[in-house]
Order: sequence, then C-alpha cells, then structure tokens
Amino acid sequence: MPKLPIECSTATNTTMDGRNILAFAGCNYLGLANDPRVLQAVRAGLDRYGLSTTASRETTGNTTAFDELELALSRFLGMERSLLLADGYTANIAMAQALATRFRTVLIDAKSHHSVHDAARSAGLIVVSYPHGDTAAAARLARMHTDADPAGAIAILTDGVFTSDGAIAKLPDLLAALPNDRSLLVVDDCHGVCVLGPEGRGTITHFGLSDPRLIVTTTLAKGFGSYGGCIAGAAWFVELARAVSGIYRCSTPIPPAVAMAANEAIRIVLAEPERLDRLRSNIARLRGRLSELGLPIIADGPLIPIFAFVLDGPERMDRVHRSLLSDGILAPYIKYPNGPAEAFFRVVVNAAHTNEQIDRLADAFARRLPAMGLLPAVLHVGSACGPDLESPARRSSVEGVA
Ligand SMILES: Cc1ncc(COP(=O)(O)O)c(C=O)c1O
Repeated sequence: MPKLPIECSTATNTTMDGRNILAFAGCNYLGLANDPRVLQAVRAGLDRYGLSTTASRETTGNTTAFDELELALSRFLGMERSLLLADGYTANIAMAQALATRFRTVLIDAKSHHSVHDAARSAGLIVVSYPHGDTAAAARLARMHTDADPAGAIAILTDGVFTSDGAIAKLPDLLAALPNDRSLLVVDDCHGVCVLGPEGRGTITHFGLSDPRLIVTTTLAKGFGSYGGCIAGAAWFVELARAVSGIYRCSTPIPPAVAMAANEAIRIVLAEPERLDRLRSNIARLRGRLSELGLPIIADGPLIPIFAFVLDGPERMDRVHRSLLSDGILAPYIKYPNGPAEAFFRVVVNAAHTNEQIDRLADAFARRLPAMGLLPAVLHVGSACGPDLESPARRSSVEGVA
C-alpha cells in the first residue's frame, strides 16, 4: 500500500486525509521547494520554453537554461565541469556508465545509497563493498584490487552524508586510500549539498579538499528544492560521461522551466546565507532536545539535519509514530535500504521550521515515549554505523542498555 498521499504542503506542514500536520519529513533543507521566487522561475520558464523539450539535448533539445544551470553548478560545487541529468539516481547511472569505460572494479561503502550500488552493477562494474565507514578496509581493498587490475586503477564510491543515518564519510582518508593519479573518488553528495561546507557547497568543501580525482554526483531535488541531478568534476570525466552515457544521450532532459528553478535556487543559496545559518541553528536545537531525551541519535560532530534512530521493537515504534500523528506531528517511521534497522525513525529538520515547531516535536516525544514504557534508560539502539563512525552518544546508549 502506498503511504497516505499529501494533499498540499508547505516547507513545514503537510495536509493528509484532510488534516494539517507539522512535518519533519523530506529533504527540503533550505525550504527552497516552496520559495515564491523559485516557483516564479518555473512559471517564467514555462512561458519561455513550453513544458518539454520533447527531444534529447544532443539532438534538438538543448536550451540556454540547461547550459546556464551547468555553469552555476560547476561554480557552486567548485568543479571544472558539470553535466545535468534527469535526477540524482540517473546521475549515478551516467557516472557509472562513464566509469565502466576506464575501470573494471569499484569499491563502494556498504551503506551507500541504493542508486550507487545499482548504477555500478548495471554498468557492468565489479562491485566490492567495504564495511560502512571503514576507511582502512577501503585502503586495503584499493591496493589489492589495483594490483590485480589490468588498468592499474580503482574508483571508490561513497555517499558524502549517508541518507539513512546522517553519518559523514571520511573523505580525506578515502582520498588518501586512492593508490595513484588514475584512480577516482566519487562522492554522492545529495545530502551534503546545501548542508555542509562554506555556503553549503558540500562535503568536499566541508573537509577543505580540492583534488582532480574527486567527482561529485548530486540531486537538485533536496537542498535546492527543485528537480534534476548532476555529475560534476574534472572536465575529462564529465565530457566522457556526456559522450558515452546512453541514459544522458538518449533521453529527454528535465523541463527547462525546472532548470530555471534550480538556477534561481542556487542564486538564493548564495545571496541569503542566513538560510543555511537558520538550518544549522535548527539542527543544533533539535539535536540538543532529542539527545536530552536519551534518543540514540548522532549527538556530536558536524550539523546534519537527518536524525535516524531505532526504538525498542517495531510495534512500539509504530505506536509512537501513530501517537505523534494523532498529536498532529509527522515524525517519519520508514522502511528504506541501509537504515539502522528494517524500519526506523527518520526525522528531518529544515531551515523553515520555527523554534516553537521544533520544541513541539521534542515535547511530543518527551510525553509519548514514557507513556509507551520507552523511558530513555530503556531505549535500544540499532547498529547504524561501523565502528569508525560511531559517536560517543551512540556508544553510551548501547552501553546503557547492556
Ligand atoms: C544519497 C542519494 N543518492 C541519490 C538519490 C537519488 O536522487 P533523486 O531522488 O534525485 O533521483 C537519493 C535520493 O533519495 C539519495 O538520497
């Protein structure tokens, strides 16, 4: 059964089954999916280009909106070149299609997004997974497979910020694990862009890295609140993807009006740094409140808007979820690949939430958890991360249970 359909929504509230609900869902990190200027850009784009190009970009379907967006993305992500794709999933497929012309084997963090694994497999690459966050294992495997590879090179693929638990990949260690200049580190930064680094430029800038072996893929449907995806990196790699990727060359691009919206979103992110400041202060507030309650969240390190956690047993989690809904609050209880358990809470705060809304969520957890026998001292934690990424807060929750 699909979930209850949303009847209408703002950046913080959603109407389902006729009820207006305070929502901590989605990935509209800077609230841009509802910004009037972004919406106006779509209207202007529709007037200018119509709805669809009805042709692929490499035939007769290219537009100035796409070229301008690629330029803006390259500048924002600090990369030489970028290529626009239909969405983040497709960007990973096009990236893997390009990799497959140069590499035989790729190493992938075991908890990277489904699309990264799927893309690599469907491009015919040999996929070797390393344990989540275990950069020493990645380095060992990189050496081993490079030695055995006819081309003598390897690509390591990882999420920047992991979608299902909010952990951050140790990119400096992964970069150091590359055995030579012909190898690549590909970062799916769907959840790092508009969240981490100066001006929200992503996980790579968060670590202050600059290296021609770095490739980024990202969606435009999260922090930028728009739709689409891209590959960004060294010109040779992006142009390789443009040349060889069937999913790019033989499909219709996003509507140009949507590209105009994404372009406007990038302009706003850069012009209004207070949005990112607000996101970060909201994350800090919610993180503080949830960790006071003893919830097993990542309670230290860089500010990430995703709070993924498991409580004691699926039935009780479902009851907590439903009791919060009856309070008029959506704290998503979801099933998604690579989370801390088969079903888990995934609460997301964004820049549009007010202090009062954040407190309302935390107060509701504080009221409902003890009523269900889930006092902080008896909360159980799922094993979301490998040992390298496990925070002291998680460890102490686990030890508290034992
Ligand atoms: C880490 C990651 N990569 C890729 C994707 C796919 O992006 P899109 O939804 O634009 O296809 C997602 C979306 O959920 C994601 O979280």
